[in-house]
Order: sequence, then C-alpha cells, then structure tokens
Amino acid sequence: MLTCKTARHISKENAIVTTRLQGDEMMNNTFTNKFMSDEKNLKFLNTTMWGPNGIRQAEELASHFTITKDMKILDLGCGMGLSAVYLVQAYGAEVFATDLYADPTQNHENFQSLGIADKIIPMILDATQQLPFAKGYFDVIFSVGAYNMFGDNEEMLPNFIPYVKKGGYIAVAFPGLKYDFGDNIPQEMQPFWDVPEVARHVRGIEWWRELWSKARGIEIIDISEQGCNDIAWDEFIASLDPSGGDNWGDDKWTLDMKAAEDGKYFNTIQLIAKVI
Ligand SMILES: C[S@@+](CC[C@H](N)C(=O)[O-])C[C@H]1O[C@@H](n2cnc3c(N)ncnc32)[C@H](O)[C@@H]1O
Repeated sequence: MLTCKTARHISKENAIVTTRLQGDEMMNNTFTNKFMSDEKNLKFLNTTMWGPNGIRQAEELASHFTITKDMKILDLGCGMGLSAVYLVQAYGAEVFATDLYADPTQNHENFQSLGIADKIIPMILDATQQLPFAKGYFDVIFSVGAYNMFGDNEEMLPNFIPYVKKGGYIAVAFPGLKYDFGDNIPQEMQPFWDVPEVARHVRGIEWWRELWSKARGIEIIDISEQGCNDIAWDEFIASLDPSGGDNWGDDKWTLDMKAAEDGKYFNTIQLIAKVI
C-alpha cells in the first residue's frame, strides 16, 4: 500500500511468508537480512508491514548519518514500529514511536515480546499538530513510509525543525514516483490515482526536492532514490493476502496496483537534512 489507511490495520497472524532472500541479497550481511533470517522475526515482520519493508528502508536511511545509543529519536508515523525496532536493535537509541492511528498498547506488547520495550515509548501523536515535546529535545526526527502522508506542504518541515538539536537530523523515506505524473497519469495507473489520497501523497522526487529546498535552518544532506526499493516492495507484496479486500489500501487493491505499475513508476524517496 502506498498510503495505508486505518481500515487496513488488520492482523495478518496467518500470513507466514516463507520467501527468503536469495543470491546476492543473502550474501549481503545487512541488519535486515539477519533479522529476517530468524523465523520469529520474519513472522513479526510479515504481520506488521504496512508498506514496503520498513526495516529495510530504515536501515538504508540511517546509513547516511551517525546514530548512537545515547540519542533520542522521534519516529513519526511508525505504524507497528518496524523503524523503531531497527533503531533500537541496531543502535540502542531511545525511540518515541508515534503514530496517529496505530495502537500503542499493541505496539508496546510487540516491543516487549522482542525484549526492547524499555527503549521505546509508544504513543498516539498527530504529526500535523503542535508536537508535545520541548524544542531541541531530539537528536533525530525519523520517519519511514509515512512522511508523504503529512509532510506534503510547505509548513510541516519548518514545524519539525525546532524540535531537533542543532547538528541533529531529519531523515525520512517513503514511497514516491520516478517522475511526477502531473496531469499525465499513465492509463494503467488511472484507477488507482482516482483515489484522492494516492494522487496527493505519491509524488516525484523532484517535487520533494523543490519542497525541501524552500526550508530555512537546515542543510540538505541527501535527496535520492533508495536502492532497496524493489526488494522492499517485493517483501511487502509477498506478505499480502490476494483474497484481501479490494478497497483502497486493502491487500488485493495493493496487489492490483503493484501489478499494474510493474516496476515502471514507483521508487522509494529519501530526504535527509541536518539542522544548522
Ligand atoms: C503506510 S503506513 C506506514 C507505517 C510504518 N511506518 C511502516 O513503514 O510500516 C503510514 C502510517 O502513517 C501514519 N500517519 C498518517 N498520518 C499521520 C499523522 N498525521 N500523524 C502521525 N501518523 C500519521 C498512519 O497511521 C500509518 O501508520
């Protein structure tokens, strides 16, 4: 799903995907591959992905700057907490795992079962509202698979900047397009772009570059397409249930959309800025 909605917050307890990484990917000694090589972790991942593999996206995003265990990280739109799991397990950082809809109690129980609950504060938070934190409190604001849903206007990035210490980072990654469709929506994508939320939230990388270039008080560190796009999508697609509903955001809807797209248009966009 490119822009998940609340209705898709279903348990996929029975969706045990046995697809494992093979070939070159297996050779890559990444955190994500190691995480997924554990049967319990794989089951957790396959029941909690609300978009292209959030652990894989988080790993690539975080590789562009330094994270240490004494850092405080605000994770916006964490869903079921995959990016938070990565930030704690890989770095030991303290993470505020926040989301507008995801159930913090369920997330807390999941974090407990992974033995990392002491490092994560799960909470409901609307990223579009004034944040309930002190200014300059966080070392990093981090977001995977969600920023496009609330950060697609000129106000949001300037709103977030004051909450990050000088020298800290704002780092986000989310589904986007290799080029902006504008009014020329490819015919095969038209049925999916008829959903206003999709048309609004799924933009081209140049559109995002222009938006972030307007903000003051930051230095852009990186704006690029993530290399993990294809595999992150494949892993997400493999976790979906083809008999799932076909309304926007449901499993079948997402499978149909990805089949229509067929690798031609989607990318994963990452934007990283240093607060100066
Ligand atoms: C596609 S899901 C991705 C979830 C998760 N980051 C992942 O990668 O699995 C997008 C998430 O953004 C959250 N979201 C949307 N609007 C939000 C807002 N205004 N404030 C906080 N979270 C929001 C949704 O509740 C949802 O969990």
